[in-house]
Amino acid sequence: MRSIPVILTILFFLCCQPDSIPPAAAQDGSKLWFTRMEPADLPASDRLTSICIRQESATFDIIKNELKKALDTLFHTGIDFSKTIRPGSVCVGTSADRLIAGYIDSNERNALGDDGFMIRSFQSPQMILIAANTEKGALYGVFHFLRLLQTTTQPLQHLDMKEIPSYRHRVLNHWDNLDGTVERGYAGRSIWKWDDLPRVISPRYREYARANASIGINGTVLNNVNASPDILKQEYLQKVKVIADVMRPWGIQVYLAVNFSSPTALGGLSTADPLNDAVKSWWKKKTGEIYRLIPDFGGFLVKANSEGLPGPQDFGRTHADGANMLADALSPYGGIVMWRAFVYHPDGDDRAKQAYTEFMPLDGKFRENVLIQVKNGPVDFQPREPFSPLFGAMKKTTLMPELQITQEYLGFSDHLAYLGTLFKEFLDAGTYTPGRNSTIARITDGSVFHDKRTGIAGVANIGDDTNWCGHHFAQANWYVFGRLAWNNRLSAKEVAGEWLRQTFTHDQRFLEALSTVMMQSREAVVNYMTPLGLHHLMGWSHHYGPEPWSAVPGARPDWLPSYYHRADSLGIGFDRSSAGSNAVAQYAEPLRSLFDDPGLCPDAFLLWFHHLSWDYTLHNGNDLWTELCYRYSSGVEAAKRFRQIWEDQRAFVDPGRFETVKQKLDIQVKEAIWWRDACLLYFQTFSGKEIPSELDRPVHRLDELKKRKFDLKHHN
Ligand code: GCU
Repeated sequence: MRSIPVILTILFFLCCQPDSIPPAAAQDGSKLWFTRMEPADLPASDRLTSICIRQESATFDIIKNELKKALDTLFHTGIDFSKTIRPGSVCVGTSADRLIAGYIDSNERNALGDDGFMIRSFQSPQMILIAANTEKGALYGVFHFLRLLQTTTQPLQHLDMKEIPSYRHRVLNHWDNLDGTVERGYAGRSIWKWDDLPRVISPRYREYARANASIGINGTVLNNVNASPDILKQEYLQKVKVIADVMRPWGIQVYLAVNFSSPTALGGLSTADPLNDAVKSWWKKKTGEIYRLIPDFGGFLVKANSEGLPGPQDFGRTHADGANMLADALSPYGGIVMWRAFVYHPDGDDRAKQAYTEFMPLDGKFRENVLIQVKNGPVDFQPREPFSPLFGAMKKTTLMPELQITQEYLGFSDHLAYLGTLFKEFLDAGTYTPGRNSTIARITDGSVFHDKRTGIAGVANIGDDTNWCGHHFAQANWYVFGRLAWNNRLSAKEVAGEWLRQTFTHDQRFLEALSTVMMQSREAVVNYMTPLGLHHLMGWSHHYGPEPWSAVPGARPDWLPSYYHRADSLGIGFDRSSAGSNAVAQYAEPLRSLFDDPGLCPDAFLLWFHHLSWDYTLHNGNDLWTELCYRYSSGVEAAKRFRQIWEDQRAFVDPGRFETVKQKLDIQVKEAIWWRDACLLYFQTFSGKEIPSELDRPVHRLDELKKRKFDLKHHN
């Protein structure tokens, strides 16, 4: 009799297993989005039989290899190569090949530019053509075609598409130091092995180049914006050359972050004044030296007069003087300067206003090959910020959005936070300058101002961890940055779906469940960390965990949370309205008036722009304190829901990745509770109000939380 419950239990488990799921092969995440090669539902008539490529080069070798490997796996047959088109061929080439040129007209060809491609099916002869003007365009076309094979349900006989990238420069910024550490990196040490270079070339460089090329990234800044002058020493340039040689066939240009005082630190000059002739010629000479080693070098990224770094203002010059001097050194070689607008001084006005105040008067004063790199928000990559008002306002200067892929303020590599929704919220924001339909995407991709040079940068989340990004789902943030840099009109959801399919499985049940988690994940983080426009509540220096009370003796006030939340017995929030710092004036109408009036200001930015009383009534009828409690609680509930959804996916995921993600989700739930309790208990000391009885009680005590120490090393 005792065996009956056992049998019933076994039967129960068997019945509950999703049917026909093959056991997932063990994975460690090292293959990124190349993990699953499964064809989408393609009819048999779509079977491809041969690859026709007539051109030769290192990039064409890559193309052949990628196509052969993928098609053999997808169609389970040996695909062969030919120099002629046969029925069932996929034919790849540039317009320099007469055979290819014969299939596209010159208008079409011109429209593709340097990086664009077309993919078209022909019925007679029955073939698929992937054509571009350059070999890197052809490479992008091939990767796109392979992505389609895995994700589309459209029959291959009807393919007809052209893709032209939204931005010309699609660049990763590594904040990697020469000693192998990564500033704000949470995935191990730097992938650049400076001590081993130039002799030893890590296989990861090639894999990195492949991953980037597959999503259209075409540039990489190898070193930290807090740049050591040493990167420009001949010894390091030799190492950089080796990396550039690996990147080149994949269409990736290498850039360097430079320290503005390099002429004094390295060149022995007594000044780094950008208008000084000796300084100018030092940079010219150094630039020439770089181009002799790396003929396709991309250019310089500069953080100047920011957070203690040197810059032109040290010599009474402007940012334009500094940027233009470097631009002149680079322009004979076609290089660019990416000059950062991330500037603020502790004794200045509201920090959120300072970049605008400093850079607006310089509009139109930069050389053609200078791009001003502007962070998405006016402060610093917070879980949510309104867009930087420089976008739209600077009309005569090319602005290059800077997004942060690494999760400095969104739970490092411990929290699942898909940033596709954050990036899209920013890109789709309307600036209203000029007029309607001037979203950030259209302002920055050349649609509105017709700039020829356009660019977008993402601060990388890559390290030497086996799975590259620390959290398996953080790979999706690298992926979505690349896909949106290529096409800023894609939706965050489409990209999440593509990534999930290629990284985990094609099973619809898993795809739906995890796409929901990804799409809700960033909002959950906003809710349990900084809801309703709160910002900068995190711990001092390491930026992990909540410390709204942080009061480091002698610290810069603008590095402390109280500067931002301004909680007191009357209320909470930063008054940036016309009655306060008047940051709202930096936005165009109707945004200015909208943000200025708490009754019209979107809830998401309420406490960013306003200091409101604890009793203030929101649109939904809740008072501010109650709403805050609800938001924090809903963030925690979401984290718990994500963990449960993941638990239900065991059958779809290999045990290695399943367990790792599960452990991370456990951490995320615990830390969401930590954030909720720390913030609510601390703000309660000002509001003096009770947490609504229907919500979970805090599990911590405020005095304990204030004593909690955080070990950054543990998180690296
Ligand atoms: C943030 C970050 C720094 C970084 C800086 C920057 O302040 O915490 O580590 O150097 O941004 O973007 O320059």
